[in-house]
Amino acid sequence: MSRLSPAIACVVGASGGIGRAIAERLAVDPAYARVIAMSRRRPADWRSDDRRGWIGADILDEASLAAAAERIAADRITQAGRLTRIVVATGRLHGPGLVPEKSMRALSLEGLSGLFAVNAAGPALVAKHLLPLTPRAEPSLFAALSARVGSIGDNQLGGWYGYRASKAALNMLIRSLAIEHRRTRPLCVCVALHPGTVDTALSAPFQAGVAPARLFSPAQAAAALLAVMDGLGPTANGGFFAWDGAPIPW
Ligand SMILES: NC(=O)c1ccc[n+]([C@@H]2O[C@H](COP(=O)([O-])OP(=O)(O)OC[C@H]3O[C@@H](n4cnc5c(N)ncnc54)[C@H](OP(=O)(O)O)[C@@H]3O)[C@@H](O)[C@H]2O)c1
Repeated sequence: MSRLSPAIACVVGASGGIGRAIAERLAVDPAYARVIAMSRRRPADWRSDDRRGWIGADILDEASLAAAAERIAADRITQAGRLTRIVVATGRLHGPGLVPEKSMRALSLEGLSGLFAVNAAGPALVAKHLLPLTPRAEPSLFAALSARVGSIGDNQLGGWYGYRASKAALNMLIRSLAIEHRRTRPLCVCVALHPGTVDTALSAPFQAGVAPARLFSPAQAAAALLAVMDGLGPTANGGFFAWDGAPIPW
């Protein structure tokens, strides 16, 4: 029998297209004894049992993240296990009153602040509250879903100012978290991942020009991203990778 306690995974943003697919896949992965889905609202059809938990939290409400971390730490099953994988699949591109900017004329403090809050500050606050729950001397992984359009070096088209810039900020936050966290948990890997173009509510208004073969289902994206996560070793810490494992320039 293994001397290691069971492994626990936590997916933040489990109500979203990609987050939900990642949570479902982890829930049937024998490598994990328990998956904790986290979202603002409980998905109507999320079935909780010994293997599948749910905790409510808003990434913009730090008190809710602190409470969620306490619940994970106190949870009987979780306490007996090791939180070895944290996936942050939250994000915002458009919504009521928010359209990706095509021109600098469309920039507003409110729009930019909102995107920076959800796409950059929120995942960093998740890290602040959940990374301390990872084991000190065993491998673990923290992955935040970023986007290729957040690559400064890859930006040839412009536009989408707030989304691009907030994902670039997320990438920098992940890089700094990776460097700091490595000091106390040398086997923990922190990365930013690009899922490809995935058929979800977030991409729905922008799918017209995407070739069908390049538009992944959430299940396809989840499978690809989890395979990348499984293959990342210590040298990947602080990196930015695509759904196929290829590094993306900053
Ligand atoms: N889909 C793509 O083609 C694509 C491409 C590149 C990168 N990405 C990135 O992949 C990630 C997942 O995107 P998706 O396509 O799965 O989008 P999605 O279906 O719209 O899901 C977004 C998720 O973010 C959550 N969220 C937003 N604000 C939140 C907050 N304040 N607190 C807690 N949760 C919050 C949403 O929760 P609610 O249900 O409560 O609103 C939802 O679960 C995002 O970071 C996105 O930028 C996606």
